[in-house]
Amino acid sequence: MIKLTMLSIERSKVELLAVPVCEDADIHNNAQIKHLVSNATQLAEFSGKEKQQVLLYDPPETKVKRCLFIGVGKKEKVDIERLRCFAGQAVQKAIKAKLKKVVIVLPDAESVNASSGDVLEAISEGAVLANHKFEKYKEKSEDKSLKEIILLRPARATQKERTLVKRVQAVAQGTLLAREWVNTPANDKVPVQFAKMISTAAKDTGLRINVMSEAQLKKQRFGALLSVSAGSSNPPKVVEMVYAAPKAKKTIVLVGKGVTFDTGGYNLKPSSGLSTMKIDMGGAAAVAATMIAVASLKPKCRVVGLTPLVENMISGQATRPGDIITSYTGKTVEVGNTDAEGRLILADTMAYAVKKYKPDTLIDLATLTGACLVALGEKMAAVFSKDETLAEAIVASGQATHERCWHMPLPEDYKELLKSELADINNMPSTRYGGAITAALFLSEFVGDTRWAHIDIAGPVFQKKGSDYCGPGATGFGVRLLCDLIGKL
Ligand code: BES
Ligand code: ZN
Ligand code: ZN
Repeated sequence: MIKLTMLSIERSKVELLAVPVCEDADIHNNAQIKHLVSNATQLAEFSGKEKQQVLLYDPPETKVKRCLFIGVGKKEKVDIERLRCFAGQAVQKAIKAKLKKVVIVLPDAESVNASSGDVLEAISEGAVLANHKFEKYKEKSEDKSLKEIILLRPARATQKERTLVKRVQAVAQGTLLAREWVNTPANDKVPVQFAKMISTAAKDTGLRINVMSEAQLKKQRFGALLSVSAGSSNPPKVVEMVYAAPKAKKTIVLVGKGVTFDTGGYNLKPSSGLSTMKIDMGGAAAVAATMIAVASLKPKCRVVGLTPLVENMISGQATRPGDIITSYTGKTVEVGNTDAEGRLILADTMAYAVKKYKPDTLIDLATLTGACLVALGEKMAAVFSKDETLAEAIVASGQATHERCWHMPLPEDYKELLKSELADINNMPSTRYGGAITAALFLSEFVGDTRWAHIDIAGPVFQKKGSDYCGPGATGFGVRLLCDLIGKL
């Protein structure tokens, strides 16, 4: 869908040409573009301030129908994220204009203090991510996505650049897939259906895929996971996806929380918290979509994705507050609160992963706690790890992809808050303060000595309002982060 070209705007017809403009510097080296920009900045209403836009029709001496100038602010402030946003704005405008294509002008890399690869990557990523709207449930779509995004470059594209664009597309497609899954309402993604959606998407990718049934989970004693799904008439599933490079030396296991709907169980959520709980499988969506991207990225290691899928519902069979269950490891858990279900399904799945795959690195992604939202807000994830290097690598990947992560503490003495009078551990801490931390500490009891990190994505999994390269709703948070990270571990 992305095409790299060096077309001449004097000779080729262009329906919409999008040009980034700096407030205080010229960032183009093409004479035609320079000329267009200098005309635009003479307008009183346009100076190139961030997010400013001006649209000119039929600029002279070109075959351009619409020329859209988009401000990217002061030159020294132009970074990779601004370029993603610029491309996203360009695509959104083209969609609104009911076009099929857009031509985006890349700035001269040197003038924005970046490498040409970084500029290419940022702009193609922003453009592909913006070119998507969740319309599965609309009879007619109003805003049709573009068929082609053309990047106008100063020179002929090299093989390396073509490979880079392919990689960006694989990762962005993964992100869009995760968004689709998370946006899907809970009545159409009960565990059986969600497992099928994953299997279908993974078909022909070369991934090995295995879906564990309820009977298999019982036989293998996934006691904590089964206690969560007990109240639902929809049986649980665990999807296991394996990518293995030939002669792989290292194994990375990714585990994603997949609660397809979280009512809270008998500790029922209030209406305000209930209505958005279809998003409680955002971790699983990110992990499964990452695996599909990984199949085309082909890193030199073994990557395993595991997604425990359950529905947390109420019925005569549902787990009661106070019940004591036996987890996969044999550890008993007092279910102090049926709404703290994520840690239960993750505990079993991670313990299984440790035993079966002996991972060099284990990472879980989960919409785990409301407390995480209180701590870091809606745009940042919390990272927990005793391994500084791993935590730093995650934070760094988050900086690169603008999926921001903050390293949080795992204080040993807080484990006291999870003590149970009757069982080995309680899933409900004795205080609500530090809820994101106590949730992470609970998980830490099930991973042994494995190098492990937990990423709480309760905030950034979802956004009410759309932004430059993501519509309202699911964000696909985590896919780009994990894809970046896997290459660096
Ligand atoms: N799925 C929720 C966490 C959540 C809240 C995600 C808001 C996204 C937005 C999780 O299962 C939950 O309910 N956690 C409880 C834990 C508590 C009972 C210890 C919470 O955060 O209140
Ligand atoms: Zn819950
Ligand atoms: Zn939950």
